[in-house]
Amino acid sequence: MQILDGTLVSAHIKEQIKQDVIDWQAQGGKKPHLAAILVGNNPASEAYVGHKVKSCAELGFESTLLRFDPSITEAELIAEVNKLNNNEDVDGILVQLPLPGHISGDSVINAIDPSKDVDGFHPISQGKMMLGQPTFLPATPYGIMLLLEHYNIDIAGMHCVVIGRSNIVGTPMTILLSRNTKPGNATVTLTHSRTKNLAEICQQADLIVAAIGKPFFVTADMVKPGAIIIDVGINRIPDATKKSGSRLVGDVDFEGCAPLCSYITPVPGGVGPMTICGLMKNTLLAAKQKSTVAATA
Ligand code: GUN
Repeated sequence: MQILDGTLVSAHIKEQIKQDVIDWQAQGGKKPHLAAILVGNNPASEAYVGHKVKSCAELGFESTLLRFDPSITEAELIAEVNKLNNNEDVDGILVQLPLPGHISGDSVINAIDPSKDVDGFHPISQGKMMLGQPTFLPATPYGIMLLLEHYNIDIAGMHCVVIGRSNIVGTPMTILLSRNTKPGNATVTLTHSRTKNLAEICQQADLIVAAIGKPFFVTADMVKPGAIIIDVGINRIPDATKKSGSRLVGDVDFEGCAPLCSYITPVPGGVGPMTICGLMKNTLLAAKQKSTVAATA
């Protein structure tokens, strides 16, 4: 069993991005600038956005964090997105999800200028991805593909089972795994809360992507010996032995499943750091594309 070490791989990719930014600036390019919107103070969202802002500083990007009270209206938030759309200095915009219940995430995401949609959540980005056209890929599935690529794992012809059909992980993951690319060319089954015989389907998987948001959902009896497991879950559970009283676990029972696997991602230190890499690569791409458009306009 080998650990797919997202912390290590992301450090490696971040070094490449950092050098790319230096080279870009040496050619007269400007620092990539990511603007993040955070509504309310959900502790998990605070932590995710904090990691993203910190990564910007590490890589020589500029970042702006806009915080809003949860009482902000949908129209006010869309107006803020529009300000960022029109701000020439901003290359990438991300709206941290989830948003408060009275705001439609779809409406806010749809308001983002697709040329700044570095999370890859806009319908234009998702549509282009589905058609195999160049675009911003959603950060988490993109990061997972980068991780598979780094370890030279050839998934062509494998049966991949994705658990969870969210717009930001499960559904786009199925597209990327099945595309005619490397890595890619897998046969994919998308499963969800209404899937019958989920355990039997997982037992047939050469690769499982667990993105259901339930701690320890994937157990050893669901895993075929030699399978690869990618754990997207980040769940906080009570743990009296920790000073904080809690700890982070994935969607997979790591202790039970790891001995059976050929490869497995840990939580934390697996997919999470790779998501940041996906976002940072998209932001650098947005900055470069903007300057190309400006130069040819
Ligand atoms: N919420 C959970 N994951 C993500 C992500 O990758 N991007 C944003 N914007 N929100 C999220």
